[in-house]
This record gives sequence, C-alpha cells and structure tokens, in this order.
Amino acid sequence: MPKLCVNIDHVATVRQARRIDEPDPVAAAVLAELAGAAGITCHLREDRRHIVDSDVIRLMQTVKTRLNLEMAATPEMLSIAEGIKPHMVMFVPEKRQEVTTEGGLDVAGNLQRVREATQRMQASGMLVSHFVDPEMRQIDAVGECGADVLEMHTGAYANARGAVCRDELMKLTAAAAHAAENGQKVNAGHGLNLRNVLPVAAIPMVRELHIGHSIVAHAVMVGFERAVREMIEAIRYADSLSKRYSPGQILAYFI
Ligand code: PXP
Repeated sequence: MPKLCVNIDHVATVRQARRIDEPDPVAAAVLAELAGAAGITCHLREDRRHIVDSDVIRLMQTVKTRLNLEMAATPEMLSIAEGIKPHMVMFVPEKRQEVTTEGGLDVAGNLQRVREATQRMQASGMLVSHFVDPEMRQIDAVGECGADVLEMHTGAYANARGAVCRDELMKLTAAAAHAAENGQKVNAGHGLNLRNVLPVAAIPMVRELHIGHSIVAHAVMVGFERAVREMIEAIRYADSLSKRYSPGQILAYFI
C-alpha cells in the first residue's frame, strides 16, 4: 500500500490571506502525523505566497516522520535547502504566474543543470526527488541524474474526464512500470482527491502519494460545523462572564 505524505501548503495559504499567525501549517503537520501521515511536504515558492522560510525551519524542528521540501532548483533555493537540510528535496518547475505547479520538470531538456543540483543536494545528505510527467524520456533522464526517487505528475489524469482520464491513467501505469524496470523508485501526486486517488493508489509500483489541496479543502468542510459550534459556545461563555466581569477584566484574563 502506498504511504501518504501530506502537503500542508494550503493551510499557509489561508494564513497568508490575513498575514497573521493562524492557521499554523506546523500545527497541521503535527495533526497529519498523529493521523498516520508518513511524511510532511511543503513548497517554498520564490514568491513565498504560502509557505515562508520560517515555516520550513519550524517544520524541520517539529516533524517526526520526514520533511520533504518542494522547490525550484534555483541558486537561492539550493542554498536554503543546504542550510535547513530537509530529509528530501523535491525539484519542481516553477512559474511565477501559475496558480499551481503546471506540468513536470523538464529533466531531459536540462540534464546537466538538474544533475549538478541533484548531486549538490545529495552531497549535503538529502534525498532528491524529481517531479516529472509520466513520459519515458523524462523518467530515463531522472535515472541519468541519479535522483533517489521520481514523482509522477498526476495533474493531467486528475483534470481529465472519461476516455481521456483512462488514457492518462494508462500513461501513469506504463510510466511506473518503466521506472520500476529501470530500478527507480516511484511516487505520485498532484490533484488527487478522495475519489480519483483510488486507481492511482492501486498502481503496484507507487510507493508514496503526495496530496495537499484536497485534504485541506476536505478539512475545511468536515471541521466547519464544529468550528461554528465552538464559536457559539465562546460567545455564550462571554455572555455568562459578562454578568460578573467587565470587558476589561475579561481582556486581562484571556488575552
Ligand atoms: N506533488 C508535487 C510535486 C506538487 O508540486 C504538489 C503541489 O504542491 C503536490 C504533490 C500536491 O498537489 P495537490 O495540492 O494538488 O494535492
């Protein structure tokens, strides 16, 4: 059975909407581990739109399983990774304007640069993963770079419907088999949710699934009713306190 690594970026997206300190992605990482996650993943983007540098440091101090850092293989990110030393670095392509990671890394087209970055991270003691589309030439290129593992981009499959979705699943299955024949380790992720994860989790060679957005989206829904009930409880509690204390006294005690 593939293991689950939980990407907590979008907990930080909600926080950054207000630029305050909640919700805390590190607290989400702890809860994910308590729920059985085998690893925690975060993406430090060049524009710091969700995860910020201090999150990665705090995650590294807190995570008990394994911290995977997604990042572009740029000079800035390579030195940050060398400073923090997450357990695994995952090279992804990054475009400033994109909403999310569009397409896999073109390892075949940037072989020397990606190989050098891979070796540099490995020399610092980190495992390295490359996020690639399920194409044989990219998978072979990951092998040529000596990456420890590859992650197949499941976004095209997740976005497709009907016969196209089936074709995309077949591509993932064939790519995973090809990688396994090469002796490569295969993970998968992007756009997976409670329904479309089922066929991908059934591909025998897939060792880990990296899932983020749908878990955060689902958490908002399954936790929303409780959050509203607890706020009503807090307001009711304030009402009972107000019979004995002034707002200033309540502030001094609670804030
Ligand atoms: N794997 C990689 C390499 C990614 O870039 C992402 C998105 O940050 C994911 C997995 C998780 O994708 P999603 O948030 O759609 O589950």
